[in-house]
Amino acid sequence: MEINEKIRQFAAQTDQAMAACLSHNDTDLDTLLDSMRYSAGAGGKRIRPVLTLLFCETLGGKTEDALAYAAAVELIHTYSLIHDDLPAMDNDDYRRGKPTNHRVFGEARAILAGDALLTLAFDVAAGNRRKSEQDNLAAVRILSRAAGVFGMVGGQEIDLEETNRPKSYDKLLRMHRLKTGALIEASVLLGVLAAGRIGEEETVSASRRYAEAIGLTFQIIDDILDYTASSAKTGKTSSDARNRKTTFLSFMTAEEAFDKAVGLTVDGIRAISALDINKELSCLARYLLFREK
Ligand code: IPE
Ligand code: IPE
Ligand code: MG
Ligand code: MG
Ligand code: MG
Repeated sequence: MEINEKIRQFAAQTDQAMAACLSHNDTDLDTLLDSMRYSAGAGGKRIRPVLTLLFCETLGGKTEDALAYAAAVELIHTYSLIHDDLPAMDNDDYRRGKPTNHRVFGEARAILAGDALLTLAFDVAAGNRRKSEQDNLAAVRILSRAAGVFGMVGGQEIDLEETNRPKSYDKLLRMHRLKTGALIEASVLLGVLAAGRIGEEETVSASRRYAEAIGLTFQIIDDILDYTASSAKTGKTSSDARNRKTTFLSFMTAEEAFDKAVGLTVDGIRAISALDINKELSCLARYLLFREK
């Protein structure tokens, strides 16, 4: 199957699983639930759950075993975007082709929707009926570490640092590894876990190396697209220049940054080659390199 078709299929399965987690009705809480559904259902590339499901499948597991973990990681990612767009952070008006959550539901509710999506994710991962309690505990730990102070939130903290004093290149790398790389690595590890292979040292280490390479690539391309692509294409406002962010383009041209991403993608593909029997993980890495949104 073509990688685009595979992504579409896994994204659709993730959408369904997420919608099921958010299907409650409660008259007192319907506005909050609508706000959660608004962002969770807004589409997005679903790259993190696709990674979870593709790793699980490539390593011999069943999609159904990984689906709750895949939904959980996308719920966390969705929360991170809602908070990232808030006026106190990047102050962005568009996301996933629609007005940002706070523009529709107000800042207070956008904060609560983010909080509720994050906590729901842990419930969903912990409640995966297809895996053992021990696996589910491991999943929750993978997610909580990747989301927290030494993961995504820590990366956002480094991103917040005063914008008039540019960061060093090493600091930029650390920021990207945390704010984007950590959740991407978690997505990969959840797939390994769902496939029952998390105890295999070599498998885990190769998967981590792949995740690290494509995670950094992902943020390099995000920085390039913020600078070069139209909002119509990306579905979100470009705000790095307005917010005077230090990005890859503070240190190199877009062409040099792309070359760096090419090198990293090659590293990632090499790292996973022994496990990547159908070459789908390699195709996914290339797809992420050449993405235009
Ligand atoms: C955007 O993530 C934020 C970053 C971590 C770079 P995505 O580019 O995966 O956004 P969606 O999920 O497709 O909207
Ligand atoms: C945010 O990075 C990454 C998150 C942890 C949400 P950006 O601020 O560059 O993401 P976009 O460009 O708004 O999607
Ligand atoms: Mg940001
Ligand atoms: Mg942003
Ligand atoms: Mg960006």
